[in-house]
Order: sequence, then structure tokens, then C-alpha cells
Amino acid sequence: MGLTHTHLLIFLLIVCASVFRDGVSATGVSSSSCTSTPRSPRRITVGGSARWTFGFNYSTWAFNRNPFYVNDTLVFNYEPPSEKNIHPHSVYLLPDLESFVNCNLTNGVKIANETQGTGKGFRFVLKKWKPYYFSCGASDGYHCRFGGMKFFVLPLRRRNY
Ligand SMILES: *[C@@H]1O[C@H](CO)[C@@H](O)[C@H](O)[C@H]1NC(C)=O
Ligand SMILES: *[C@@H]1O[C@H](CO)[C@@H](O)[C@H](O)[C@H]1NC(C)=O
Ligand SMILES: *[C@@H]1O[C@H](CO)[C@@H](O)[C@H](O)[C@H]1NC(C)=O
Ligand SMILES: *[C@@H]1O[C@H](CO)[C@@H](O)[C@H](O)[C@H]1NC(C)=O
Repeated sequence: MGLTHTHLLIFLLIVCASVFRDGVSATGVSSSSCTSTPRSPRRITVGGSARWTFGFNYSTWAFNRNPFYVNDTLVFNYEPPSEKNIHPHSVYLLPDLESFVNCNLTNGVKIANETQGTGKGFRFVLKKWKPYYFSCGASDGYHCRFGGMKFFVLPLRRRNY
């Protein structure tokens, strides 16, 4: 069991930070567009200009990109297999925090294969209010463990006015 208190603490901190930011905007304390709840679902490219690639810290990216909302779409963009790309990426959804922490793909679901990241990329809608644990599936978790290619999001419910 590789689940440490630190990991749990970080998880809770992120959840609290998201909820707090959401709460602040709801009470109108902050009116900046950065913290106000977007009215309609957004399309968010995972990693921004880095896209879905080895050696980028996606945990930090997701943390800074918070909050995410239910019905937002994540776009994973990555190169297909080729002579130059012999360890192509993919996208897995992992079942729980422990699998996520350990990069254990055993019970993960491959939601996008090696070729689905091309063109407009692979799109995934955050349909529910629950944690989503994403990982690259390449080399049985190597990219997840050593390439920073994992992150989780807990999309918030968008308020209806
Ligand atoms: C998400 O979209 C579905 C289908 O368009 C809609 O029924 C649902 O109410 C939306 N949920 C939220 C929280 O916006
Ligand atoms: C990965 O998860 C499976 C299913 O929970 C478990 O049986 C296995 O021992 C885990 N592997 C590692 C290396 O922790
Ligand atoms: C990936 O999935 C797409 C769509 O389901 C399919 O057309 C394609 O052949 C698959 N590619 C690989 C490498 O499995
Ligand atoms: C990402 O950055 C965070 C914060 O600096 C750090 O704790 C974490 O170990 C980094 N993850 C990877 C895979 O480099």
C-alpha cells in the first residue's frame, strides 16, 4: 500500500482549494473572471501548449488549472506511433487514488489508444461530480511513474442561476 498521508493531504488540499474558490465567486466577494463560475462548459487542452507528452508535470498543471466543472471537455493531443515515436502515448482512467499514486494500470480502463490523440485530439467529457484519475498507459506505467503523465480532477457542479 503506497498511499501516504502526504498524498491524501494534497488531495484534500486540492479539493478544499477548488471548493473555496467556487465559494468565493458564488458570494460575489471576487468578481474577477478568473474565479467566477463559467456559464457554459469549456474545452480544455490537457497540458496547454505542452499537450500530452513525456516530462511535463500534469499534477501541477491540473492543480493550477482548477477548478474544473462538470461537463467540461478535456482534450488529449499526442503524436501517433511512428519510427521516431516508438513509445506512443495513450490515456487510461484509473479506478482509485491508490492505483493513481502507484501508477497501477491493472484495473485501469484504456479510454484512448495510441492513435486517438491525433488531429483534434481525444475528447473526454467530465460528466460526473467525482474524482477522475488520468494516466498515460505507455510501457506499463513508465510514463506515469517517471514522465509526470498523470493527474486527477474533481469537477465541481456548475451553479444554475
Ligand atoms: C451536463 O450536461 C448534461 C447533458 O447536456 C445535462 O443534462 C446536465 O444537466 C449537465 N450537468 C451539469 C452539472 O451542468
Ligand atoms: C495493482 O492492482 C491490482 C488490483 O488491485 C493488485 O492486485 C496488484 O497487486 C497491484 N500491483 C502493484 C504492483 O501494486
Ligand atoms: C484506436 O481506436 C480507433 C477508434 O476506435 C481505431 O479506429 C484505431 O484502429 C485504433 N488504433 C489502434 C492502434 O488500436
Ligand atoms: C510535480 O511538481 C510537484 C510540485 O512541485 C512535485 O511535488 C511532484 O513531485 C512533481 N511530479 C513529477 C512527476 O515530477
